[in-house]
Amino acid sequence: MTDNRKVAVVTGAAQGFGRAISVALARSGLNVVAVDLSEAGETVAAVEKEGVRGVSLVADVSDPASTESLSALLSSQFGRCDILVNNAGIYPNVPFDEVDYALWRRVHAINLDSQFLMVKGVLPLMKSGGYGRIVNITSNSIGLVIPGLAHYMSSKMGVIGFTRGLANDVAEFGITVNAVGPTASKTPGGLANIDAEHIDALAQSQAIKRAGTAEDVVGTVLFLAGESSGWVTGQTIMADGGLYRS
Ligand SMILES: NC(=O)c1ccc[n+]([C@@H]2O[C@H](COP(=O)([O-])OP(=O)(O)OC[C@H]3O[C@@H](n4cnc5c(N)ncnc54)[C@H](O)[C@@H]3O)[C@@H](O)[C@H]2O)c1
Repeated sequence: MTDNRKVAVVTGAAQGFGRAISVALARSGLNVVAVDLSEAGETVAAVEKEGVRGVSLVADVSDPASTESLSALLSSQFGRCDILVNNAGIYPNVPFDEVDYALWRRVHAINLDSQFLMVKGVLPLMKSGGYGRIVNITSNSIGLVIPGLAHYMSSKMGVIGFTRGLANDVAEFGITVNAVGPTASKTPGGLANIDAEHIDALAQSQAIKRAGTAEDVVGTVLFLAGESSGWVTGQTIMADGGLYRS
């Protein structure tokens, strides 16, 4: 069944920022494809509660096969793709001496290579529609002094470079590419990787002195995913309570 609604793909959609972004996009009237390692059932249910279509795609976004599975699903179920939010990511805090090549590669594969692979999966449909909004999730940690994140910061700086470069290559097709950098936040992943007390302590250095939540990135992502941001591309916005200053 097809309708005229725009279609958004959100990776890492089963929980945390990805779920909050998926539900917000649904609330704005978009159909949502929720990509995650396992069935994003709760996200899809919350999306459908908003009266739009939610479809789950079980995929490892760091696997090159995910390009084809995403593209096949979009073509068969919707025939279009308007928005891609590359949100899936991992952030293990590991002292550099303990970071081996396997972990280095895994972090780059999931945080950065995945964004390349997902873009390859949506680009033909975005180009044929003459419209697209790509939002890549980076992190404000790239501007902070936090030990144990060299592998992570490297991948998230890569996201910013990819965002800048890709913006140049797709502008002529009506497609914008921007990045959003959250701060340490109380998502399931955030609480598993960072002590809650550390998140609260870090918040005291922000202009807005409270810990971030999954909902705090939604407004910035919606702006960059929306039609009104068409003159903004290649940019990175830190949605972090005013911590990082460029
Ligand atoms: N929470 C924070 O403190 C924080 C701060 C800055 C940036 N970020 C970034 O925000 C993004 C989301 O973070 P979160 O806190 O919501 O994380 P989270 O761990 O709560 O959720 C991440 C989701 O991504 C999925 N995922 C992980 N690897 C995947 C893979 N290979 N293929 C498909 N799905 C995969 C997980 O299953 C999970 O559902 C990440 O890119 C992270 O680096 C988070």
